[in-house]
Amino acid sequence: SKEPIRVLVTGAAGQIGYALVPMIARGVMLGADQPVILHMLDIPPAAEALNGVKMELVDAAFPLLKGVVATTDVVEGCTGVNVAVMVGGFPRKEGMERKDVMSKNVSIYKAQASALEKHAAANCKVLVVANPANTNALILKEFAPSIPEKNISCLTRLDHNRALGQISERLNVQVSDVKNVIIWGNHSSTQYPDVNHATVKTPAGEKPVRELVADDACLMIVLLYRLNGEFISTVQQRGAAIIKARKLSSALSAASSACDHIRDWVLGTPEGTFVSMGVYSDGSYNVPAGLIYSFPVTCKNGEWTIVQGLAIDEYSRKKLDLTADELSEEKALAYSCLS
Ligand code: NAI
Repeated sequence: SKEPIRVLVTGAAGQIGYALVPMIARGVMLGADQPVILHMLDIPPAAEALNGVKMELVDAAFPLLKGVVATTDVVEGCTGVNVAVMVGGFPRKEGMERKDVMSKNVSIYKAQASALEKHAAANCKVLVVANPANTNALILKEFAPSIPEKNISCLTRLDHNRALGQISERLNVQVSDVKNVIIWGNHSSTQYPDVNHATVKTPAGEKPVRELVADDACLMIVLLYRLNGEFISTVQQRGAAIIKARKLSSALSAASSACDHIRDWVLGTPEGTFVSMGVYSDGSYNVPAGLIYSFPVTCKNGEWTIVQGLAIDEYSRKKLDLTADELSEEKALAYSCLS
């Protein structure tokens, strides 16, 4: 039988944490034959709630769950972990300036970077979920120089899955038949959800989403995809719509997408399918190097590769640049918090 994999979830007493840890313990993230040991980290005010989550994990008697470490000690939380899912962070509260939130998160991610660097297993894969996700991941990368940059990523898979979901709803096709949407850039409202390369499996074979839309008489859909209007804003604003409806932010979809992100990274993407991941830019598609930017990637043998050679039209180019500009500004703001 396989050796257990140690998975760290920070912010484990929070809402995403509560949805995520049972998914991991059920094998949703790493496979139904992969034992896991869960490391759950939170801060002292949440210690009691964290212990409650631990009690529930015991009560659920998950066969794959070989151990639980629930702690408020960063070093204990990070020790020996193979996968780290960073959900903990400082939320933006009413009346707070962007800079104040950034400053809090910069210091959290700086400290957690050092702990991971010193105590995590070699080759630990890191996924940052907490906002501002791209910039938190960048800070983590900068302050954990011995962790290969290829091992540090942020979550845009939720936006990617939202785009798949919207296409499925609007074209009235199964979501499992839709693939190869792309989220470019920041996990924020400047992200660019791109359907130019997306396809749908139909009885007549795989068809580009754009072609199906052109075939469709429905005016609304033509409008959506030709003018790139409502589809994009629906995906960009989906988080806000969930908050309005639930009075709480996305949690089950965020947790499920985090599992998708790690599973595809570790176990590989299916042939002919790409997914979106926030990764350290190497300058592909003329995105400035040195930002954590969401790209289309394929994964194999535990490594992601940016999909190359996709045609970028003029409209898309502007969108790619706009979200890159925002990330450069966030980076500058983060650095100003450090000094
Ligand atoms: P939450 O407020 O319910 O939970 C956050 C948890 O983090 C709390 O238990 C808190 O005590 C803990 N925490 C705070 N500082 C910490 C630290 N230094 N170390 C460890 N734990 C710490 O928030 P929720 O809803 O679970 O969301 C978590 C984060 O994920 C937020 O930043 C949110 O904006 C972000 N998010 C990102 C998404 C994405 O697609 N990238 C989607 C949805 C949410």
